[in-house]
Amino acid sequence: MSKDTLTITDNRTSQTYTLPIEKGTVRAMDFRQIKSGPDDFGLMTYDPAFLNTASCQSQVTFIDGEHGILEYRGYPIEVLAEHCTFLEVAYLLLFGDLPNESELRNWVYEITHHTMLHETTKKFMEGFRHDAHPMAMLVSSVAALSTVYPDARNIHDAGNRLLQIKRLIGKMPSIAAMSYRHSVGFPYVYPDNDLTYAENFMNMLWKMVEPKYVANPLLARALDILFILHADHEQNCSANAMRSVGSSHADPYLATAAAAAALSGPLHGGANEEVLKMLDEIGSKENVPAYIKKVKEGHGKLMGFGHRIYKNYDPRAKIIKWTAEQVFGVTGRNPKLDIAIELERIALEDDYFVKRKLYPNVDFYSGIIYQAMGFKPEMFTVLFAIPRTVGWLAQWQEMLVDPEQKIARPRQIYTGHRTRQFLRIEKRAPVTAAKH
Ligand SMILES: CC(C)(COP(=O)(O)OP(=O)(O)OC[C@H]1O[C@@H](n2cnc3c(N)ncnc32)[C@H](O)[C@@H]1OP(=O)(O)O)[C@@H](O)C(=O)NCCC(=O)NCCS
Repeated sequence: MSKDTLTITDNRTSQTYTLPIEKGTVRAMDFRQIKSGPDDFGLMTYDPAFLNTASCQSQVTFIDGEHGILEYRGYPIEVLAEHCTFLEVAYLLLFGDLPNESELRNWVYEITHHTMLHETTKKFMEGFRHDAHPMAMLVSSVAALSTVYPDARNIHDAGNRLLQIKRLIGKMPSIAAMSYRHSVGFPYVYPDNDLTYAENFMNMLWKMVEPKYVANPLLARALDILFILHADHEQNCSANAMRSVGSSHADPYLATAAAAAALSGPLHGGANEEVLKMLDEIGSKENVPAYIKKVKEGHGKLMGFGHRIYKNYDPRAKIIKWTAEQVFGVTGRNPKLDIAIELERIALEDDYFVKRKLYPNVDFYSGIIYQAMGFKPEMFTVLFAIPRTVGWLAQWQEMLVDPEQKIARPRQIYTGHRTRQFLRIEKRAPVTAAKH
């Protein structure tokens, strides 16, 4: 018998089954043959929150959470952050290889020439209240782009998919900047094709009456690095949403809006906004031990700490800490950094955090940098969504061309009532609140 197999004995029937093991995995569908009798549906696996289920085979991003390794298409994140631009990394994630000079030139040209938004986008924006959360505006506006590009429904045409991919990568910063300008009541700024991706985003955010916006090169590079670090992270909650919604063959604008909605939650992309709120609540270095004590007693979580996959220092957090120093050289030191460093120091020595392998994640320092650069906390998740769009699209494209993929449709273990007797309304007992 091959060594790469799993032998299971079903003690209900004393029958033995041998299942193949491939790439360290057994196929959940192989369990279906295990039945207690002819009417049995077959054995299922139960895995709430997908803690131990691979939902796809992917060649985009590799993570070794135990050792703190992150690679895009086989390149370590540290190397890409040091040597590449964000659009170069976007090309790598989408097409599998780093571009040569002329490929990169064309790619940058294409993305740059897709940054303009249809004028109706302004009208969607104007419909939002002045105090609407920029992330909610972004999600809704990306979904609304589906009305502008009905051709996007033709997802089976590779050329058409590529056009939508370029549009989405090009337009995401424009929508993000619009949502910010709307929230502060400033007029929208059109893209400037002379600028790089990050510089142009800064231009659309912060240009006032000057004839030409000139970005600080150090801040633009820091933003570009942050974009690289956030570009993809394999099968996280939002990538899973992208694949799941995309699996029904919804168009990429709607699928991206769904992914962005998943990102908006505080347990995912919203965490860096929560980190800043937490640092504000702590107030000063002296209050750190008392705050940690509260967390250990079960009152809230240390935001920006812990990760489903990383049980080691998040490699992105290390690069972000380094980037923070560069940014503070321009903007001056954000006093919250000292509270964060103290929090990290104490937590990394504390048994509670050590035992649970809770280390700082990407969100722990990113918010502090963003704030020093002049972003309001509400914008942080929007900043995350811009580069992550590339990852979502790479995952979406891979899913669509994978012959094994079908519409995502999990099973359930039904634990509710069966076939109850219907009672007319006057005969029903009150439904107690406790039931809900
Ligand atoms: C990211 C996160 C959702 C991962 O969750 P998960 O893999 O489901 O891990 P669990 O919630 O099962 O956590 C395992 C244990 O560590 C504790 N824990 C996890 N993150 C914690 C945190 N940030 N602060 C304090 N305790 C934490 C849990 O309470 C649990 O303790 P228990 O075993 O005594 O019950 C979680 O760590 C978290 O909420 N972190 C804060 C939010 C955040 O920074 N998110 C950004 C992710 S990039």
